[in-house]
Amino acid sequence: MLTVRALALAYGAITAVRGIDLDVGSGELVAVIGANGAGKTTTLKGIAGAMPVRHGEIVFDGEDIARLPVHERVRRGVCLVPEGRGIFARLTVAENLDMGAYLRRDAHGVRADLARCYGLFPRLAERRGQAAGTLSGGEQQMLAIGRALMSRPRLLLLDEPHARLAPIVSRLIFDTIRTVANEQVSILLIEQNARAALELATRAYVMESGRIALSGAASALLASDAVRCAYLGE
Ligand SMILES: Nc1ncnc2c1ncn2[C@@H]1O[C@H](COP(=O)(O)OP(=O)(O)OP(=O)(O)O)[C@@H](O)[C@H]1O
Ligand SMILES: [Mg+2]
Repeated sequence: MLTVRALALAYGAITAVRGIDLDVGSGELVAVIGANGAGKTTTLKGIAGAMPVRHGEIVFDGEDIARLPVHERVRRGVCLVPEGRGIFARLTVAENLDMGAYLRRDAHGVRADLARCYGLFPRLAERRGQAAGTLSGGEQQMLAIGRALMSRPRLLLLDEPHARLAPIVSRLIFDTIRTVANEQVSILLIEQNARAALELATRAYVMESGRIALSGAASALLASDAVRCAYLGE
């Protein structure tokens, strides 16, 4: 479904991603792990359209989307949940969720997805009239994921959904990611917690200094000495 080839991304003169190849199959959950500054967030931004592509291809369902603006990628089903969540603090929970569906014209489907979202996160249903900026960190993460789901994504790009969350909330987010993946949404997940990522994903890529250093089945990476030593602290 997603085929990235020779993707290069830069901030001015600083090259952050140096020609990477990466694939996500239909309904697959793929993780990207790597040290701070390796280029993980930049990679997701490039795929989502949040920054211009310097070089390479991003083929989604047979079409190169590398030069399309963000909304055209969202329309095709590519949706980013950014690091730091990017919710609208002054809008209510319900208004934020509506924003997620802004490109959709199927009012019926939107209503059904809203009910489903509140089903996934009952906490959001209770707080639907509350300003998003006053939610707890974990609730804001739920809202960010809920808002992305309101766009009916076919490929969800998740940048560290567990950052700064208490274990119990973190588990809820993990369960939700699993539920969403089971509904045939493909997921590309960045995680600082390499072990958690490798336990959740079927395949993974390890990034180092803007390149893919290793890739393979998550179970194989979990068992690899290089990964255990460098990323699992063993
Ligand atoms: N807005 C920016 N301007 C200039 N350089 C940037 C910018 N954002 C990121 N970089 C640089 O690009 C490189 C990759 O950053 P990126 O945020 O993709 O890393 P990351 O793998 O997501 O790291 P982390 O695990 O800390 O989130 C880093 O060297 C970083 O300093
Ligand atoms: Mg990052």
